Amino acid sequence: MTNAQIGECPPLLFFDTGVGGLSVLRETMKLLPNAPIVYAADYAGLPYGMKSEAELAARVPALLGRLVERYKPALATIACNTASTIALDHVRSALDIPVVGTVPAIKPASALTETGVIGLLGTRATIRQPYVDRLAADFASDKIVLRHAAPELVYAAEAKLRGEQPDIRVIQQAITGLLEQAGGDRMDTVILACTHFPLLRDELAEAARRPMQFIDGAQGIARRIVHLTKDITWPATSEEGIFVTTGDLADITPYRAAFKNYGIGRFERL
Ligand code: DGL
Repeated sequence: MTNAQIGECPPLLFFDTGVGGLSVLRETMKLLPNAPIVYAADYAGLPYGMKSEAELAARVPALLGRLVERYKPALATIACNTASTIALDHVRSALDIPVVGTVPAIKPASALTETGVIGLLGTRATIRQPYVDRLAADFASDKIVLRHAAPELVYAAEAKLRGEQPDIRVIQQAITGLLEQAGGDRMDTVILACTHFPLLRDELAEAARRPMQFIDGAQGIARRIVHLTKDITWPATSEEGIFVTTGDLADITPYRAAFKNYGIGRFERL
């Protein structure tokens, strides 16, 4: 695949295990509607949240290296908290283009909370990362940050994007897992620290049963992408985005309608 085949302008590359990165792509498209898009999903590796640090530190840079070689993007966004909190440095040292990571939005949450109690929902791997400890120490040392792993929400979000009804019980359990911790009754802000989770924002808000702010880092990432690509002249019109999977292309069929909403209409296998 050459740049000529995917248009003259280098694309923006988004990377996740599945549909989660669409929550980051959505905010980016609002600011850069005509930027060519390549959306990569490592379905063969989903779920990252159950993998070891060593496995992800090797797998993510290797895949991104292949993607960059094939699509020659201007910039790569790791639209996955698990991959970013573990492998961002490894990816940056392996690639010679700008790499934007997606890390738990502890800083904005700390500024928003009025009660001083923040919940953090992520994958099993994300919530145990030293990266998260550092964010909490740097930006929320005077707050209580309750962490809960909600790996089932990844599958609920995948189901929703296939047009199925997500499992409401797992959504309820995710919220309960925070509320039941000490201080949970005062929690007013929940960080969605997995890119799949903002796709279930309405369902999570309903399960909470009292007003809470659900926040993620997607808008900040979109602004960062705009800044890092400010010297690029984007096309006057948008072209069809490319979806590329490490899994079986046939498995993507149920997601095609959802991807169409993001301007993605070409499907390829890595
Ligand atoms: N969307 C990914 C994240 O932000 C995780 C999904 C998975 O476990 O593969 O952490």
